[in-house]
Amino acid sequence: MDGKREIVMSGIRPTGFLHLGNYFGAVKNYVRMQEQFDCFFMVADWHSLTTHPDTEALKGHVKRVLAENIACGLDPNKVALYCQSHVHETAELYLYLNMLAYKGELEKTVTFKDKAKQQPDNVNAGLLTYPVLQAADIILHRAKYVPVGKDQEQHLEMARNFVNRFNHRYGDVFPEPFAFNFGEELVKVPSLDGAGKMSKSENQLATLYLADDDDLIRKKVMKAKTDAGPTEPNSAKPDYIENIFLLMKLVCAEEVVAKFDADFNACTIRYGDLKKQLAEDMIKFIAPIRAKAAEIQQDEAYLKQVMEQGAEKARTSAKATMDLVRSAIGLKYY
Ligand code: TYM
Repeated sequence: MDGKREIVMSGIRPTGFLHLGNYFGAVKNYVRMQEQFDCFFMVADWHSLTTHPDTEALKGHVKRVLAENIACGLDPNKVALYCQSHVHETAELYLYLNMLAYKGELEKTVTFKDKAKQQPDNVNAGLLTYPVLQAADIILHRAKYVPVGKDQEQHLEMARNFVNRFNHRYGDVFPEPFAFNFGEELVKVPSLDGAGKMSKSENQLATLYLADDDDLIRKKVMKAKTDAGPTEPNSAKPDYIENIFLLMKLVCAEEVVAKFDADFNACTIRYGDLKKQLAEDMIKFIAPIRAKAAEIQQDEAYLKQVMEQGAEKARTSAKATMDLVRSAIGLKYY
C-alpha cells in the first residue's frame, strides 16, 4: 500500500461456503486487482447478522472465507484482508450515512424486498439499512472501484446517492464508488437447475462450492437440467442450456465449448457427454483451490496473524477518513 494508487474495496458475507459465483463474480477480480490498486477486502460479519442471527457457525465461516480467498490467490501482504467487525469506524460512518438515507428508497431495494419475503418474522432495521452499512464499508477507505457480481449493482447505485448527498451537504470528502469488472459486464453465475443464481445459503444442490469434493461436483453437474436436444438446426438455446454453456465458458477450453456449440447447432449434441466434460473441467478448477483452502484452515496461527495485520491496515485508512468526515460535519469543537 503506497497511498498513491487508486483505491479498491469489496466484501463477502460469511453466511456459508464460497461458490463459483463468488469466485467469478468477485474473488477472481480481487486477485487481478491486487497488483495494480490499493485493495481493501473484507469479511462482512456484521452484515451476516441481518439474516443469520444465530452465530454458532460464524467463526468457522469467517475463517473459511479468509482461507478460501487466500487459496484463490489473494496475498494478505499485498492487500488489507480483514473482518468488518474489527474496524469500529465503520459503525460511526454508518450512523452518519443513516441520516442521509431515506426510508422510502431503502424499502424499495430489491435485496430488502427479497429478504423480507424470505424472513417475514425478522424484518429488522439492519436489513432495511443494509445498503447504508455497505456504503460505509466502501467509502470508509474512499474507494473508487468495487469488484462485485451483478447482484450488487443496485447497492452501488445507492452508495453513490449517499456519497453525493454527503458531499453536497458537508463538502467533498468522498469519490463516487463504481462496480468494477475491468470494463466488462458484471458477472452473474447461474445455478445448475436453471432457476436463479448460485448462492451460499440457498439452492445448495444447484450450486458448486469451492469445497465440494470430486464426486459431489460430478453428481451436481450430471443433475443439471437438460432436455432431448434441439430438433431444428441453429435454434435458440433454452435458458437452462444457455446457462450450462455459460458455466462451460468459465472453466472449459475454448475449443471444447466451440465443439459442443457446433454439435448443438447441428442437432447432434449429447448432453450426457457435455456434462461429463463440464464436471471434469470443474474438478480440475476446484480441486486445487479446495486442497489449498483446507491446508490454510488448519493453520490457526497464520489466520489470526492475517486477520490482525488486515485490521491494522484497514484501521489506519479508516482513521484518516473519519478525521475528514468529523471535520466536514462540524463535530470537531476545538
Ligand atoms: P455476497 O457475500 O452475497 O457475495 C460476495 C460476492 O460474490 C458475488 N456473487 C456472485 N457473482 C456472480 N454470480 C453469482 N451467482 C454470485 N453470488 C455472489 C457478489 O456480487 C459479491 O461481489 N453485500 C455484499 C457484501 C458486502 C460488500 C460490501 C460488497 C458487504 N459490504 C462492500 C462490496 C462492498 C454481499 O452480500 O455479497
